[in-house]
Amino acid sequence: MENTQQRLSELQQKIIRLKKEKDIAVLAHSYQTADILEIADQTGDSFKLSTAAMELSQKTVLMCGVRFMADTVKLLSPEKTVILPAAEATCPMAEQISPERVYAFKEEHPTYKVVAYINTTTELKAATDVCVTSSSALKIVSRLPENDILFIPDKNLGSYLQKQLPEKNILLWDGCCPVHNAVTEDECRKAVAAHPGAKVLMHPELPAQVLQYADVVGSTADILKYALEHEEDCIIGTERSVRDYLALMRPQQNFYLLSKQLICADMRMTTLTDVYHAMLGECGERIELQPETARLAKHAIEEMLRLGA
Ligand code: 13P
Ligand code: SF4
Repeated sequence: MENTQQRLSELQQKIIRLKKEKDIAVLAHSYQTADILEIADQTGDSFKLSTAAMELSQKTVLMCGVRFMADTVKLLSPEKTVILPAAEATCPMAEQISPERVYAFKEEHPTYKVVAYINTTTELKAATDVCVTSSSALKIVSRLPENDILFIPDKNLGSYLQKQLPEKNILLWDGCCPVHNAVTEDECRKAVAAHPGAKVLMHPELPAQVLQYADVVGSTADILKYALEHEEDCIIGTERSVRDYLALMRPQQNFYLLSKQLICADMRMTTLTDVYHAMLGECGERIELQPETARLAKHAIEEMLRLGA
């Protein structure tokens, strides 16, 4: 263990030196492992990371996360070189509906606005009207002048929105995050019984029947904020890295993972070694987007920023 720590620390030092020498910024989603979060220039949820690169002076950005995050950085900072260190890291939810199906729906239902979770491909974003993230969805959908909405692809986040915004007519698609959707009511009851008094913090990608056990429902950023601003023990209902990070930051508090299923293989694909080799140009993928698709997808992201501000 000590050797591993030492090796990681050396690697972290090398990465920090390379960032300066090569003028590279590292962005890391909160679901990345702590060794990556520690060397990142910016960390956060998908909303924060979508705009973070625009504020950075570096011309090259390494986006540690999954493909849709790197694509979004490229959409908003097209002049930058954007690299996804683990080229195969993708969100399984991103392709659960095809752009063709969205275009067909729009033709059949001209009064509907199509709202897409940011966890979608660039091609899918190009077919939609506005994107949202888990931290901005409620604000954005409530601010839309239209009442008829098709929400894609996450039925769980969509059903959370339906409950919070009964004045809207929200149609759902049958998609979901396979990681969050796997959590069961039985696991919730067991976690609550095992840790009485602990606050239950849940991501809205969890199934609707599970959210009834939550004290707080919010995005990754909301969960981190709540846990860091309170002294209470917490049961964490989102990806395991969030629990691990909190345990590292707050050793005096107890953080329990709601379910052992809450591990996203794609988010964990990127290792510190990948980050190092991607900086040397030895692995990873440089993001290139088809210009017309990028123009349309950027519009949906800009709408997200306009309505979510
Ligand atoms: P956030 O919007 O909370 O960053 O979530 C992204 C994600 O992939 C959740 O599974
Ligand atoms: Fe996609 Fe779920 Fe992984 Fe987030 S946790 S990247 S939604 S599969």
